[in-house]
Amino acid sequence: VNEPSFSRSDEINAQLQALVPGGAHTYAKGVDQYPEGMAPIIERGLGSHVWDVDGNEFVEYGSGLRAVSLGHAHPAVNAAVIAALANGSNFSRPAHIELGAASDLLSLLPRADMVKFTKNGSDATTAAVKLARAVTGRDLVAFCQDQPFFSTDDWFIGATPLGRGVPAAVRDLSTTFGFNDIPGLEALLVARGGEIACVVLEAAGQAEPAPGYLQQVRALCDRYGVLMVLDETITGFRWSLGGAQDVYDVVPDLSIFGKAMGNGYAVSALAGRREHMRLGGIDHDEERVFLLSTTHGAESHSLAAARAVIDVYRREGVIETMAARGAQLAAGVTAAAADCGLSEHVTVHGRPCNLTFATRDEAGDRSQPYRTLFMAELLRRGIIAPSFVLGAAHSEQDVEATIDAVHDVCVVYRKALENGIEGYLAGRPVKPVFRSRS
Ligand SMILES: Cc1ncc(COP(=O)(O)O)c(C=O)c1O
Repeated sequence: VNEPSFSRSDEINAQLQALVPGGAHTYAKGVDQYPEGMAPIIERGLGSHVWDVDGNEFVEYGSGLRAVSLGHAHPAVNAAVIAALANGSNFSRPAHIELGAASDLLSLLPRADMVKFTKNGSDATTAAVKLARAVTGRDLVAFCQDQPFFSTDDWFIGATPLGRGVPAAVRDLSTTFGFNDIPGLEALLVARGGEIACVVLEAAGQAEPAPGYLQQVRALCDRYGVLMVLDETITGFRWSLGGAQDVYDVVPDLSIFGKAMGNGYAVSALAGRREHMRLGGIDHDEERVFLLSTTHGAESHSLAAARAVIDVYRREGVIETMAARGAQLAAGVTAAAADCGLSEHVTVHGRPCNLTFATRDEAGDRSQPYRTLFMAELLRRGIIAPSFVLGAAHSEQDVEATIDAVHDVCVVYRKALENGIEGYLAGRPVKPVFRSRS
């Protein structure tokens, strides 16, 4: 191993901590999520690779918290953005591109009739919750407790260990249900169906939906007059071009897209059926709903990015490429772990386009120290892997190099299991994002 230096990154991390709470603009990017002294500050990215301020080059997984699926600085997306920039980005009235972008997105979503754009997944999800409350006249929100994240807003964060600052009155308006648990959801709806505005879930997470599960959720929602909100922030532009709703053939009332939709540019969307979305309009006689109205909601170059992304997906078989590379990676990592006798300790989970890994200790329990060791040894070998989420820019060679590195890492992991991890881990373990104290 050609030992990388992180000294410039260390300095900048310290400066960032002093100026920016958390030292990053998303907690999932924090230094606490990385092995101590091995949290690179990125200078630039191209395709599947990034370069840090110390000059280290990495193959990068999880790019942009799953926002970048075509690779960094994608030429077609950047060309569309640059062309749009030349014409200005924000006006007193809608730009022509707003129609094109809405048509493009809706052409992918036969189950939706209308769309409204904004800048991030949280705002779109919260807008869905608001619209559901308006439609039903009910206040309670039920979200899936087995899926990690829906929004930075209080209705969700208030129910996590990071609920400080959220009034109890707000927390009381959220409740949860388990994924793939129809009896549980039905019991909740029997007990409180008359109070529940919507159920919010992802179609799949680490777990696939059981056959018929999503259709049963749909049927229960219909029976209890509850809106079904499908959060496709991750699944959109990964599971298929029509989203997970297409893959599993389910008709949500409202769905949310973001992340990969802009390949790193800030754009997200709330899409839904006209009967509900129209309440956000100005062409009806009912009481109006203030639905997603933000200064930057229709920023022209971000809409141009989304249009270009859709075009690239259509032309280049992006979904198929991600699925193939992910399958290659999952098989290779699984084989490398098996070769080192670690089949129970280093495991890969999720759909090929959205892979994560788990690390287990001597007792077979999920282990943050072993996660740290795994990440640190990969970083030493030129791989940033908070997950194994890849994009279409990851080449077969990138994946092969990753598998080779994982094999070497597994040799170290094996020794740590045999001799005790203390001698192999420098510094404190990585920490979970959702913890109430540092
Ligand atoms: C499923 C899901 N929904 C919503 C969000 C929030 O998106 P954003 O960070 O763009 O606000 C995320 C972000 O991680 C997510 O994973």
